[in-house]
Amino acid sequence: MLDENYSELRDLVKKFSDSAVAPIAAKIDSEGEIPKELRNQLGENGFMGCYIPEEYGGAGMDYLSYAILVEEISRSCASTGVLISAHTSLCSWPILEFGTEEQKKKYLPKLASGEWTGCFCLSEPNAGSDAGSLTTTAIDKGDYYELNGVKNWITNGKEANVAIVFAKTRKTDDYKGISAFIVETSSPGFSIIKIEDKLGIKGSSTAQLAFDKIKVPKANLLGPLEKGFRVAMATLDGGRMGIAAQALGIARGAFEYARKYSMERIQFGQPIAKLQAIQFMLADMSTKIAAARLMLYDASTRKDKGLPFAKEAAQAKLFASEAAMWISTKAIQLCGGNGYTKEYPLERFFRDAKITEIYEGTSEIQRIVIASYELKEI
Ligand code: CAA
Repeated sequence: MLDENYSELRDLVKKFSDSAVAPIAAKIDSEGEIPKELRNQLGENGFMGCYIPEEYGGAGMDYLSYAILVEEISRSCASTGVLISAHTSLCSWPILEFGTEEQKKKYLPKLASGEWTGCFCLSEPNAGSDAGSLTTTAIDKGDYYELNGVKNWITNGKEANVAIVFAKTRKTDDYKGISAFIVETSSPGFSIIKIEDKLGIKGSSTAQLAFDKIKVPKANLLGPLEKGFRVAMATLDGGRMGIAAQALGIARGAFEYARKYSMERIQFGQPIAKLQAIQFMLADMSTKIAAARLMLYDASTRKDKGLPFAKEAAQAKLFASEAAMWISTKAIQLCGGNGYTKEYPLERFFRDAKITEIYEGTSEIQRIVIASYELKEI
């Protein structure tokens, strides 16, 4: 049971999600864009700076509140959920955690208010799961670093004003020469190569970006030189909980719709909810949601308490994303032909669920991370 403060937060976000997000979720999906008005509302409500401390312009909440926020928004629209999640846990968090005071003062207030959008540039055409093999370079030119390379699968890449970029400051065959940088996308030499046309989360932009001789000020090195891989991994530990929250929201959205449908749909002279085959589906969906939620809230609480949480975060993401895929598939099955059409939101939840098994580390990568903690002794 969550205490009162969290229930109040949930009610507040739910109200917003039901009134401002759910009615336009299908339009966001079909038009492939989150309207500026909604983006502004997310900022005004403090949703873009949820756990940024108040001194840097944020709402000063904890990570559990953030998980609840992303869950409730994703219940209506997974694209809007990941806009918040990638912005917050992949861009604002590393600046908060690894940034200098100067960097925090310069970037966090703009990110927390939603005036600026953030993204995270780790993956490349030939460096996906094997993130350490990236080849983008940042060469020390005395007064600045010269950044060259191509980045792939960048959530928020179209809208971002600021990017956390991982690049090699020393040539190595592994992760050891990687450093992290804060890069403003208005810098000369920054360009968008393409915006991906995807199966789901269509309102969220996924971009391929190019860096051509970008001059990155020395002051924008994030964290220690050549410790960028650690910055990336630590950031993803938290980011994975944002995706677990998104997956949980998708799962709930699909489940709640299917449950309502089952009570209204009459076949064989009764609501189909009276049929045991349907009840079993709903019972399994509900159980998976309960388990995913406990795992996510546990991992978030551990982070809030300063306890180790990387294994729990990977487990929460793995479980919640596979649950979202399973539940959205079953929800369509339950609604039959209707569920398969665009008149119902279930096919959108189904398409949106798939990405949660892929980004911020595939399900296979989560299993590698979990196993590495379980087998530490060997
Ligand atoms: N926190 C801090 N440091 C960590 C860490 C963690 N959780 N995990 C590993 N490290 C450190 C290690 O201590 C080690 O550092 P030192 O040598 O200094 O001690 C270093 O990182 C290398 O560790 P490993 O040997 O374990 O690394 P590896 O090369 O075997 O890779 C991996 C491990 C788990 C497979 C990793 O490459 C990985 O997570 N891959 C998946 C990447 C990923 O999630 N990509 C998604 C990108 S974001 C995205 O999806 C786009 C978007 O916009 C949403």
